[in-house]
Amino acid sequence: MTRYFLGDRMYRTHGCNSLRKSDIGQQVTLAGWVNVTRDHGGVIFIDLRDREGLTQVVFRPEENAELAKQAHALRGEDVIQVLGRVAARLPGTQNPNLATGDIEIIPSELRILNRADTLPFPIDAEPQNEDLRMTHRYFDLRRPRLARNLRMRHRVAKATRDYLDSQGFVEVETPILSKSTPEGARDFLVPSRIMPGKFYALPQAPQQYKQLLMVAGVEKYFQIAKCFRDEDLRADRQPEFTQIDIEASFVTPEDTFAVTEGMLAAIFKATLNVDVKTPFDRLTYRDAVNRFGSDKPDRRFQMELVDLAEIFRESSFKVFRGALDAGGVVKAINAKGFAGITIGQADELTGIAKLHGAKGLAFIKIENGEWKSPIVKFFSDAEKAALQSKLHIEEGDCVFFAADKWEIACEVLGRLRLRIAEIQDLLGRVQHGRSGSDTGAPDWDFLWVTDFPLFEWSAEENKWNAMHHPFTRPKTEDMPSFEAKKFPDVRAEAYDVVLNGVEIGGGSMRIYEPELQEKMFEALGISREARQSQFGHLLRALRLGAPPHGGIAFGLDRLVMLVCGEQSIRDVMAFPKNNRAMDLMTNSPAEVDPRQLRELKLRLLEEKND
Ligand code: AMO
Ligand code: AMP
Repeated sequence: MTRYFLGDRMYRTHGCNSLRKSDIGQQVTLAGWVNVTRDHGGVIFIDLRDREGLTQVVFRPEENAELAKQAHALRGEDVIQVLGRVAARLPGTQNPNLATGDIEIIPSELRILNRADTLPFPIDAEPQNEDLRMTHRYFDLRRPRLARNLRMRHRVAKATRDYLDSQGFVEVETPILSKSTPEGARDFLVPSRIMPGKFYALPQAPQQYKQLLMVAGVEKYFQIAKCFRDEDLRADRQPEFTQIDIEASFVTPEDTFAVTEGMLAAIFKATLNVDVKTPFDRLTYRDAVNRFGSDKPDRRFQMELVDLAEIFRESSFKVFRGALDAGGVVKAINAKGFAGITIGQADELTGIAKLHGAKGLAFIKIENGEWKSPIVKFFSDAEKAALQSKLHIEEGDCVFFAADKWEIACEVLGRLRLRIAEIQDLLGRVQHGRSGSDTGAPDWDFLWVTDFPLFEWSAEENKWNAMHHPFTRPKTEDMPSFEAKKFPDVRAEAYDVVLNGVEIGGGSMRIYEPELQEKMFEALGISREARQSQFGHLLRALRLGAPPHGGIAFGLDRLVMLVCGEQSIRDVMAFPKNNRAMDLMTNSPAEVDPRQLRELKLRLLEEKND
């Protein structure tokens, strides 16, 4: 039995989820929050709550009129202590849905430890207004769902540490006040007081530090690390988030895959008692995008992208033929049973297609044996027959086409595929915790996506950027293309882990040769001077006997979100920011005292009034 003491006064002998039938007759002390009070003709029922659960306390006036009167004045979320006897609930009043549902407490003493004001929202309802929840987050977190999520997060972190420790990985902390890193997002900057005009940057990831730790001979490093990125927020993006960051020396991608799979299996066993199937499937980036229109494919439902170039190469339908003649593709997805698509849905899907670069969205509904679409008249019988067999077209289907550059056509159909799956509720049937989905797909679809391109072209900056980061190795087979500066052809020794369509982790083998790193910086258009000032430390370290190394980092928040069956990482973080990157509880970011600015030798620019 756990006893909780504060000074010489005992607050409780039991938790609110610990008393059972076998405890009937015992004298106990409980403490917690008043979850609900009900007044049944003068008899007051209180559900007392602590983080473990609920216990019913019954104040009957005929047993103790004075206590019943005190209880009558209690309000939701008052903090109380109850001394009393465990009694059997009357026959017919047991609650089978509650672990403590067979018993109740007949109190002999009630102490009010603290009162609660008017509540910001009822604790037993899901408030629609997220801002309200965030403003009173300390209250929001009392709700069982969020309390469970926090504890799940703890379990994930603990399983991670236990597993990596068992594999010889050492947790090393790296600085938060660090230097601007080229991880792809904007940095958060911290002005230096001691060196006015100079700034620290908060790390977007411990990437360079972990590589430097490899040079330092640590060999197997990990860290549950805070990362900071000043980017636009979404349900699975926060400005401040947590990575499980891993790096090891003398490893191949296979070693990294094995450690990762072992770690994820250990996490799922420890949290959900799920046996994850390993090794995970693998898809190349090219295949993933080609078949699912995404580098983080959700394979829990089908609706794969089908290539139609062979069918339409000689077509008289100009839209399709034109795309092919221009070196593009014609691809389609078949949404089974979606012929009932409404005009509103068609408009929405067309909007999505255009948003992602399509010029239009052609689709065909198959209803009453008829192919319904303004484009059908352009198809020959042979084209129709070929389409029918290639896309397995049947009554009730709806087929969507994209004719464009490969990248655009894939992206558009990939987006449509996800949205249609949502509309058709294809995912509702295969959600977390439920097994035996009727698609036969696994509930937990882990997947490696490998062979990412090393570079991506930025039209905005008119230069090549690193798709992962500048420290990622080109694939050995593609070194000749790298040397020949045929950048679009160069693949990286980089990989992502995808779980149910969410990118939960990504990593790569690193460049450890100083000359190759210099060439990479050069390819990215980083001048010699900039290389020295930004990366001098790394280049020097690589010249001091850097071992071959590589690693990976996981979005801990995203992983916990999936484990908890949540839709947003905000629901698995204690104190998240809202979608404007504000902490509504503390009202941060906030203005600071002018004195603080003076100390930092900073002055705010006046707003221009134009
Ligand atoms: P990357 O940038 O892919 O790789 O990040 C790794 C993982 O971190 C998670 N993640 C985020 N989670 C929440 N909010 C964000 N804003 C956010 N940004 C990223 C994702 C992602 O897969 N240093 C490299 C790793 C390496 O090469 O080892 C890195 O940071 O789940
Ligand atoms: P149009 O000839 O422009 O009237 O287009 C005929 C049909 O094809 C319309 O339904 C358009 O929305 C659609 N469409 C146009 N361009 C594309 C494209 N690149 N991919 C798929 N469908 C398209």
